Amino acid sequence: PADTLALTPPMGWNSWNLFEDRVSEELIKGVADEMAANGMRDAGYQYIIIDDFWVGGRDSRNQLFPDPKRFPNGIKHLADYVHSKGLKLGIYSDAAQLTCGGVTGSLNFEELDAQTFANWGIDYLKYDYCGAPDDVTTAFTRYKKMGDALKKTGRPIVYAICEWGQRQPWLWAKAAGGHLWRTTFDSRDVWQSNDSWFMGIVEILDLQEGIARYGGPGGWNDPDLLMVGLYGKGKSSSAGPNGQKYKGCTDTEYRTSFALWSIMSAPLIVNLDVANMNKATKDILLNKELIAINQDKLGKTGESIIKKDGLQVFRKELSNGRVAILVFNRNEKATDFSYSITKALDLYAPYSIKDVFAGKEFKAKELKGKLDAHDCKVYVFSKAK
Ligand code: DGJ
Repeated sequence: PADTLALTPPMGWNSWNLFEDRVSEELIKGVADEMAANGMRDAGYQYIIIDDFWVGGRDSRNQLFPDPKRFPNGIKHLADYVHSKGLKLGIYSDAAQLTCGGVTGSLNFEELDAQTFANWGIDYLKYDYCGAPDDVTTAFTRYKKMGDALKKTGRPIVYAICEWGQRQPWLWAKAAGGHLWRTTFDSRDVWQSNDSWFMGIVEILDLQEGIARYGGPGGWNDPDLLMVGLYGKGKSSSAGPNGQKYKGCTDTEYRTSFALWSIMSAPLIVNLDVANMNKATKDILLNKELIAINQDKLGKTGESIIKKDGLQVFRKELSNGRVAILVFNRNEKATDFSYSITKALDLYAPYSIKDVFAGKEFKAKELKGKLDAHDCKVYVFSKAK
């Protein structure tokens, strides 16, 4: 049967930066309860993904089992629970003997593990690359082996390839069966980190340049998790080592990052404490128009078209001849912008323009305004009748 998974970018929640090595049945059930109740599920956030550290080991028949203390009722029980809430369950493994966290990985047990995941009712697999060789041939071979194994189970399982963009996965991940592929190392909840391994939002953003054309229905560039609402500015985090090092972003920065991920057709996968969102975070994550731009059925990937004087413009074609435009202020101070709609944005039909955050429609020959530091505006152009 044709693969109809991930025709639009996957949406969901992942445990990594929040729970790290503390993932458990209890915590995951809590996330499912919350997402079913707080509007997230109904807004499209579908997958709950257990990241590293869930594995206990292999039994006498080599079958994977979860850490018995933290998952006392097994993964099938948890998947049934998550499904009963109208959500889907994702899990994590690694294309080597051990995961990044040092628990058992899937190398040489691909078929058995894929079948185990399918038997448990898993809907999504994130497959990491710690402990595996650097070369692209081995990476492709190992990823395809798991991709084939997942297909062989007959269960629809979204396959997330996580080799950090080092081997240009946008060129081969789809052929390995992948539905999304990380384009960078890990993002952290910080605007700019000046660290090449744990990057900030702007650094991750700049690494997406030039690869938009590889993303589309069934296979998406993945610039890593959304940091929206994870630690928050000034809040000294109770989360793990990542949280202690990075102190979070402002609500403006979170909103901009969400708008950027939306227009770049990135997977919208968050990793915040869904039970304790402030109003700003909730408004960002439940913004219907940004989600609609991300999930538009035409399946284009938006990209940067202007980057000048600290201002950057992104453009994404939408269904029904509409176009989304995002203007973003990278400067540390408020900045005026002005773009001619025909010359700068290359849009010729008479358009009706909607300012998404202001909720206002207007007609104009120029897009003009002022943006605070790190703020953005998003517009949707519809052909005027
Ligand atoms: C590295 C990945 O890039 C992260 O997203 C996360 O899955 C960790 N490994 C888990 O150890």
